[in-house]
Amino acid sequence: MFEKTPLAPLDPILGLSTSYQQDTRSDKVNLGVGVYKNEQGITPVLDVVKKAESILLKEEVSKSYLPIAGLSRYTDLVTNLLLGQDHAVIKAQRVGTIQVPGGTGGLRVAADFLFHVLGAKRIWISRPTWANHLAIFKTVGFDIVEYDYYDKASHQLDFAKMKSQLQQAQSGDILLLHTCCHNPTGADLSLEQWSELVDLCRAQQVTPLFDTAYLGFHQGIEQDAQVLRMCAEKLPEMLIVNSFSKNFSLYNERIGTLSVITESADHLEAALSQMKRMARVLYSNPPAHGALIVAQILSDSALCDMWHAELKMMRERIASMRHLLVQALANNKAGIDFSFIEHQRGMFSFSGLSVEQVTRLRDEFGIYMTDSGRMSVAGISQSNVKYLADAINQVL
Ligand SMILES: Cc1ncc(COP(=O)(O)O)c(C=O)c1O
Repeated sequence: MFEKTPLAPLDPILGLSTSYQQDTRSDKVNLGVGVYKNEQGITPVLDVVKKAESILLKEEVSKSYLPIAGLSRYTDLVTNLLLGQDHAVIKAQRVGTIQVPGGTGGLRVAADFLFHVLGAKRIWISRPTWANHLAIFKTVGFDIVEYDYYDKASHQLDFAKMKSQLQQAQSGDILLLHTCCHNPTGADLSLEQWSELVDLCRAQQVTPLFDTAYLGFHQGIEQDAQVLRMCAEKLPEMLIVNSFSKNFSLYNERIGTLSVITESADHLEAALSQMKRMARVLYSNPPAHGALIVAQILSDSALCDMWHAELKMMRERIASMRHLLVQALANNKAGIDFSFIEHQRGMFSFSGLSVEQVTRLRDEFGIYMTDSGRMSVAGISQSNVKYLADAINQVL
């Protein structure tokens, strides 16, 4: 039977890394996958993670299975981190969290739960978005409706268009939202716009699913979490998928959470039980190491301070690379004002380059980014920024 299997296309993001590895040019640049790199092009283990691991090495006594919902110490700490420990939904016992294998695992469990248990059939997803969003919800069986999110000409969020299209959403629909540092555009809603969106969700009876993969990459954990806290206060129900891949640099530990907020505390146990049922058939129970690391750090104020400082350092290096790139592109031959790159948030720059320009950068210069023109800014360094800007200038 396998002779009939068609070859799957390369993943639009991870496939780029494979092509990059095979490229033998010494000046190649990888701006594809959203992974933080330091000035030397390395994705380092955070010092705070090393510290936590050294404690775990001494104290860990078992590698037995975790429960389906993961490590409860970890999930409690993460709920407090996301919502703030005094949040009304925590006090009212309206929020529950399970540990999941990364943001991807959380999205898949959420999708199965919404589709198979709650009978949701339609999800609204921003255009553009992270490519895997479309693949995950399509695989589960959802009808996907894309809402316009971004105005390419002005390099800005198009909130008016987004809102007017979302007015077509119907009761029972799901709305996928990026909590902060929208991937790929780096354009986020203001708190006032979030508040308008909350009103829209209530009016249309739409349930939002917040995908939170870059918390702390705009202004810091507390500031970036404001959106979740405000929405959780005003909305009766919502879901939050959270990933620690980027902000703890724990990519290969596959560590994240899925939280559900129910209108009444009475509905919580059933919702969590069904989420666990979905997780059981997907991966049975989550891996422990990442959860132990994060729990170790979040429960120790000195380690927590260290984490915030390292996250700040990553955020600031990315911001300084944005600045250098804008400077290096200042006198480009097409006279394009690239200053918008400095206003984008998070790991990516949505450059506005066309597929043809992206292809030329890859073929002629060994510079890899997604076809959408999204660059992972952390792949830029003092040593390659001039090469990158010169190459972009040549393909403009
Ligand atoms: C918007 C968004 N959501 C979710 C994820 C998945 O994160 P993880 O690697 O933890 O599965 C990513 C990763 O790039 C992302 O960009």
